[in-house]
Amino acid sequence: MNLYTPGKSIAMCSDHAGFKLKEIIKQHLQQADMSVKDFGTYSEDSCDYPDFAHPAADSVDSGVCYPGIAMCGTGNGIAMTLNKHQGIRAALCWNVDLARLAREHNNANILVLPARFIDADTALAIVDTFMNTPFEGGRHENRVNKIPVH
Ligand code: RB5
Repeated sequence: MNLYTPGKSIAMCSDHAGFKLKEIIKQHLQQADMSVKDFGTYSEDSCDYPDFAHPAADSVDSGVCYPGIAMCGTGNGIAMTLNKHQGIRAALCWNVDLARLAREHNNANILVLPARFIDADTALAIVDTFMNTPFEGGRHENRVNKIPVH
């Protein structure tokens, strides 16, 4: 797969609402010989998504992990949290076209999924699209470079 860099794990995180989907996606990636660093949560017990999103975002922002895949019920809370980190471009995607465009146009480095609103097959198709789509660069490069707040 295109984005996977040997030596760097894919950062994953979720809250309780995304836990089951996280496990399905983790298994999918590991079966394809990709290393995953799971920042939690580790059960369906109620929890707060920022507790897992901040450490996962730090790992991608610092370059230790690349890319990231995150999910909560709607995807919004965890995306809001991840995007507080300067180097993070977390994109909430619920179909493959959004995932493709998040990579081509936005160079998204964390895919965010709305676990309560998509089925597992759709989620895996979105993950595969995200992982296999390169950034287009060109006119999008300047735009992406202007995103961080200095
Ligand atoms: C949890 O009930 C839910 O609020 C959370 O998963 C997420 O949707 C928040 O944005």
